[in-house]
Amino acid sequence: MADNIVSISLLILSLSAISLTIAIRVVPLFENYENPSFKSNLFDTSKYGRLQLNNGLARTPQMGWNSWNFFACNINETIIKETADALISTGLADLGYVYVNIDDCWSTLTRNSKVQSRPVTFRLSKFSWLVVQGDLVPDPETFPSGIKALADYIHGKGLKLGIYSDAGVFTCQVRPGSLDHENDDAELFASWGIDYLKYDNCFNLGIKPEKRYPPMRKALNATGRTIFYSLCEWGVDDPALWAGVVGNSWRTTDDINDSWASMTTIADLNDKWAAYAGPGGWNDPDMLEVGNGGMTYQEYRAHFSIWALMKAPLLVGCDVRNLTTETLEIVSNEEVIAVNQDSLGVQGRKVSVAGTDECSQVWAGPLSGNRLVVALWNRCSKTVTVTAKWEALGLDPTTSVSVRDLWKHKDVSGDVVALFSAQVESHDCMMYIFTPNTVSRYAI
Ligand SMILES: *[C@@H]1O[C@H](CO)[C@@H](O)[C@H](O)[C@H]1NC(C)=O
Ligand SMILES: *[C@@H]1O[C@H](CO)[C@@H](O)[C@H](O)[C@H]1NC(C)=O
Ligand SMILES: *[C@@H]1O[C@H](CO)[C@@H](O)[C@H](O)[C@H]1NC(C)=O
Ligand SMILES: *[C@@H]1O[C@H](CO)[C@@H](O)[C@H](O)[C@H]1NC(C)=O
Repeated sequence: MADNIVSISLLILSLSAISLTIAIRVVPLFENYENPSFKSNLFDTSKYGRLQLNNGLARTPQMGWNSWNFFACNINETIIKETADALISTGLADLGYVYVNIDDCWSTLTRNSKVQSRPVTFRLSKFSWLVVQGDLVPDPETFPSGIKALADYIHGKGLKLGIYSDAGVFTCQVRPGSLDHENDDAELFASWGIDYLKYDNCFNLGIKPEKRYPPMRKALNATGRTIFYSLCEWGVDDPALWAGVVGNSWRTTDDINDSWASMTTIADLNDKWAAYAGPGGWNDPDMLEVGNGGMTYQEYRAHFSIWALMKAPLLVGCDVRNLTTETLEIVSNEEVIAVNQDSLGVQGRKVSVAGTDECSQVWAGPLSGNRLVVALWNRCSKTVTVTAKWEALGLDPTTSVSVRDLWKHKDVSGDVVALFSAQVESHDCMMYIFTPNTVSRYAI
């Protein structure tokens, strides 16, 4: 018996010694890419993980579903429950899509008549005030069972429930907002068992986001319930610069719409903030439109590839109760999801462009295990050959690389040197993992 205890303790001791060694050896890779294969300045991570909310969430980008892109205001508890069922039956939940997020329109147009000791008063003009008190109320027509019952249903499936409010007087669809009601609303959400809050930016009275978003962070924290905090101030005040200590993700742009023009514009805007993303806090270029019908199969595949590479939240925005085979194939590509959920958590970015209007593009980023993700994205109007040169990837030109195609699910070559090219159809995106064959100092 005593012998066993000694050997178990020794085992534990040696295991902790191993993990200590691993931790120490991983640090340089996280901080400044002191890896001989990579040029350190290419994937600037100088801001990586510097600001963190530290509520234990968002170690990798959040995954799930949100009601807005497909349903807009036409939601009810049946739809939310059926969506949860569909996330399970399609296998999407098993792939990590666990947040079921209700967007705007779940509440009544006014708060209830609960009298509060200190009603909130907003001065609207010289002679008009808005006095707000009472609690938020789920719409009795569309959510007759209430949000608590819905949360119980969702949790019973092993999923998590998200809700929506606004850092203003009203939400964008003119339901009551949470500005100056942060504590009451956060407590109500926590009492219902809410796991995620998307916090919008309408009717904000012109008060700066830096003033309006932190009180909700404080209020959520004070509930003692762990709640994912998703800031949605539309990139107005460059939230990457300040929101890391406030939320788990922050929108960097206006709303996406289901078009190629919107998707590409937003990808470029979000790219600018790559250095600021990291475990605990992510840039959010808005929810996925894959499956909503406004783009082609190739365009949706590009949308999903680039969102995954950019470490964007993967929040499916279509009707998952009625997925086409093509849509399911795209959003359930495990190899692409693994890029998004990679433990290194460095946002990939646009690294080289060529052609008319820079339409032939290479996007790339470092992954754990000394690997790179490389996307060849053809934004031109006809088929082109897109080429990734090693110097554009931060690789030494003599480095030999193994290449795996994440859409064909095939190893392409075990020994590529200096450059890699592929023919890519108009608006399509090929995605690869590059594994350098040369063993480097920090390879584990
Ligand atoms: C929700 O909407 C669907 C489709 O519009 C409808 O069939 C269903 O009865 C509604 N359920 C509730 C609770 O409103
Ligand atoms: C509250 O904030 C503290 C400090 O960042 C953190 O350690 C704790 O986990 C947070 N609690 C919740 C419930 O978010
Ligand atoms: C979608 O977004 C694009 C690009 O931002 C914009 O030009 C277009 O007007 C938007 N379409 C709609 C219907 O809002
Ligand atoms: C399912 O989606 C197809 C298009 O992919 C559409 O034509 C059909 O109306 C949808 N069915 C339901 C019940 O929403």
